Amino acid sequence: MEKFIIEGGFRLHGEVSISGSKNAVLPILSATLLHKGKYKIKNVPKLQDVYTMIELLEFLGCKTKWTDQKTLEIDTENADNYLAPYEVVKKMRASVLVMGPLVGRMRRAVVSYPGGCAIGVRPIDLHIEGLKKMGCEIEMRGGYLDVKARKLKGARISFPTKTVGGTENLLMAAVLAQGETVIENAAKEPEVVDLAKMLKKMGADIQGEGTDVITIRGVAELSACEYEVIPDRIETGTFLVACGITNGEILIKNCNPEHLRAVIEKLRESGIEIVEKDGALYAAMKRKRPLACDVSTMPYPSFPTDMQAQFMALMCVANGVSTITENIFENRMLHVAELKRMGADITISGRTAIVRGVKSLSGAKVMASDLRASASLVLAGLRSSGMTEISRIYHIDRGYERIEEKLRALGARIERVRDENLPT
Ligand code: UD1
Repeated sequence: MEKFIIEGGFRLHGEVSISGSKNAVLPILSATLLHKGKYKIKNVPKLQDVYTMIELLEFLGCKTKWTDQKTLEIDTENADNYLAPYEVVKKMRASVLVMGPLVGRMRRAVVSYPGGCAIGVRPIDLHIEGLKKMGCEIEMRGGYLDVKARKLKGARISFPTKTVGGTENLLMAAVLAQGETVIENAAKEPEVVDLAKMLKKMGADIQGEGTDVITIRGVAELSACEYEVIPDRIETGTFLVACGITNGEILIKNCNPEHLRAVIEKLRESGIEIVEKDGALYAAMKRKRPLACDVSTMPYPSFPTDMQAQFMALMCVANGVSTITENIFENRMLHVAELKRMGADITISGRTAIVRGVKSLSGAKVMASDLRASASLVLAGLRSSGMTEISRIYHIDRGYERIEEKLRALGARIERVRDENLPT
């Protein structure tokens, strides 16, 4: 295993380029299973989760090839397998996103049932209910969900709660179903819209993506396509916080500010100067300490849960007290205990963290617990006096492309080293 060693206290300055979106590319790669053919997907980030999705696609019979740094070609001509095995699903919950397309094209999917996850139970009952409404028979056997659809038909599905993955899975199942599917209370995240755009390029008939109601009219056939993935809004937000927490001045290129309005608004409120120009963001933090402000996570277009931990790192050194409320996942405060080891003053009350800003943090040995929690520890390390050691950084590699290289190019002191205390 590897760890990061960070020497804090260096201001970030310079330019950074944002990679393709993790949460957009995963369903887009799954969608290639809907029609046999050759696909070219551009702006694909080289992340562990993408490698896991590639492993799954290859297991299902696809061939994949990187044709340049960011372009992945997928040949689904021989994709005749419909089994998503435990060994892959256990590494990445988003593997369940192959269920919709497999049922759509092959009328059958056997998918290992994903277990719990550090940040919450994360059930997939809403995916299952939706597929049942569309005519699927679903059995649970030996830890696997066996989904069979003799006839896949359109249905009216009203989600009691917004679900990104549920919306994506049903969207993919519906494009080849018979008749019309209406998804009410659909997720509106940019990644759902990106998937819908890709499906439309394949010939799907979809309306209303990006709103609460998506209508899909099943078509008889689709075709393969070329598609370019949107930039990662969470990576963009993380670099904005990195700039703010180090009193830096940076230019963030290849991003889409439209996708992070709520985050930009909050960061401006905290005192970071942010100027948008031609698809880039200029950010500068001239105050010594950020201003305290409150945040509450909610589905898009509100403040994203995937930015909660990073924002909390910033608030740890704010001038004043802030409250941070997590409304999406029941256990997404694992970073709190580690931030406290670095000198942060945080109290948890139910779903809310009360963060009393301190003048300075001090480097410590800490442990990453999940993807975004690890990003918050890196951010705190950049601001701390002395050295911070972050172990179990495989979590961060799941969702950030070469984060230490990008930070180093901006002037941060961060090294990836082998962790002798943990098995390889
Ligand atoms: C996706 C993102 C993740 C992000 C999350 C919320 C990907 C690969 N991951 O995860 O980064 O943090 O959206 O923005 O895109 N729920 C149910 N039953 C279900 C499905 C969900 O109760 O069948 C609950 C979940 O437990 C959670 C909430 O709904 O409390 C939202 O989850 P969901 O939007 O489905 O998250 P994911 O798609 O798993």
